Parts: sequence; structure tokens; C-alpha cells
Amino acid sequence: MISLRKLPWFWIVVGAVASVFVVGVLAGKITWFSEERPVEFLDNMDHQFKAIPQSANTFFTDRKSVREPVEGTVARGQDVYPLGPGDIDAAEGLNRNPGVPKTEFVLARGQNRFNVFCSPCHNYDAHGESRVAVRGQWAGIPDLTRDETKALSNARIYHIISAGQNLMPSYADKISTTDRWAIIYYLRSLQGVEGTESTTPTATADAAAPTN
Ligand code: HEC
Repeated sequence: MISLRKLPWFWIVVGAVASVFVVGVLAGKITWFSEERPVEFLDNMDHQFKAIPQSANTFFTDRKSVREPVEGTVARGQDVYPLGPGDIDAAEGLNRNPGVPKTEFVLARGQNRFNVFCSPCHNYDAHGESRVAVRGQWAGIPDLTRDETKALSNARIYHIISAGQNLMPSYADKISTTDRWAIIYYLRSLQGVEGTESTTPTATADAAAPTN
């Protein structure tokens, strides 16, 4: 065992004092030798225009730092569709068109959204020979104008867009409720059919119509 007496006490003390001094200077705590502001590495991070929670804010007219979410945005992890992919019966009862009318504008909007979100896989004409299917050689993307798809109710298609189905991902957090119904109108026009609202009688389900 090393005896305490043999330790180089002088240097230990000098080292400790020097360390405190260096750390103090670097942290800006020791300024006795200068009238200047302490050294700041990345001073634009120390002094920046930022909103501190609950503080007043001169940038916004209502002077609040805590902002409401921007309309139409979805927080990470926020549950925007209450059903899972397998809840098909519940979907037939729950998903009702909240009153989106079938107008020229809505159809054009549906076309626009379909071309953005659905055409990469299902193609612009919904037949399925898309960029992803052809170039990506992704098999299993159905032709949405086939009889099986035509026979699906609007409630069910809304459900597929919202919850996803097997390899097709959910679009509930990317496409607004109204746009999803607009897409369904447009898809029906591509299919050349009117489509049914739901396989469940309307009377029992109206009260449960979701807002999302
Ligand atoms: C990433 C590729 C991809 C995108 C984008 C995509 N889908 Fe799909 N979709 C698929 C695949 C794959 C299937 C087949 C799922 C399965 O095997 O059950 C499918 C199935 C469907 C079905 C069911 C068809 C049937 O007969 O069972 C509908 C309806 C549908 N998609 C509509 C849409 C709509 C509307 C959009 C745009 C909002 C969309 N899809 C976007 C890949 C995609």
C-alpha cells in the first residue's frame, strides 16, 4: 500500500487549483482579470430568439409562446383513426360521409389527392400498372377498377385508406377526412360506379359518425 506521506502533495494541490481555474475561465465564471464578456463558444446558441414555455412573446399578436397546433396538422403518435385494419364490421358502421358533396370541385380535389397519394402504387387510372408496380416490381397491388373493389362500400374504402390493409400503409395522418371522401368520389368515377355507402343500415350507425 502507498503511504499517504509519499504522495506528491504539492503537485496534487497545484493541479487541483489549476483545474478549477481553467474550468472556471472556460465556463465564464472567472472574469476578475477582464472587463470583457466571458468567452462564448457558439454565442448564437446562448443568445437566440426562442419561445420559452409560458413566457410572453412579442412575435405573435396574442403574445402567447405556447401555440395551438396549426389546423390540419397531426402530432406524432396522435391517434387519428380509431379502428385497426381488422375492424371491418365496426368500420361499416362507423364510417359515414360527413356531408362532403359530390361537386366538380370535390371531384377535382379528389383527383388531385388521388394522383398525389394513391397513383404511385395504383397508377393514375387506378389499374395498378404504376411506377411502384412496374419499376419497383412490387406484385400484389390490385387494380382498383376490378369487380371486387367496385363492390366494396364507401365505408370500407374509407377504412382501407384510413387503417391500411396488409402492405398498403395507413393514410389517416396524411390525408384529411374531407379529402379521403373526395378521393372516394374520384375513385368511384374511375371505376364507373356509384358505390354503396355501407353494408350496415344507416339508422343504427349515424350517431357514431367519427369527426376524424
Ligand atoms: C404504397 C403503395 C400503395 C399506396 C400509396 C396506396 N395503396 Fe392501396 N393498396 C396497396 C396494396 C399493396 C393493396 C393490396 C392490399 C392487400 O393485399 O390486401 C392495396 C389495396 C387497396 C384497396 C383494396 C382493393 C381490394 O380490392 O381489396 C383499396 C380500395 C385501395 N388500396 C385504395 C387506395 C387509395 C384510395 C389510395 C390512396 C389514398 C391507396 N390505395 C394508396 C398499395 C398502396
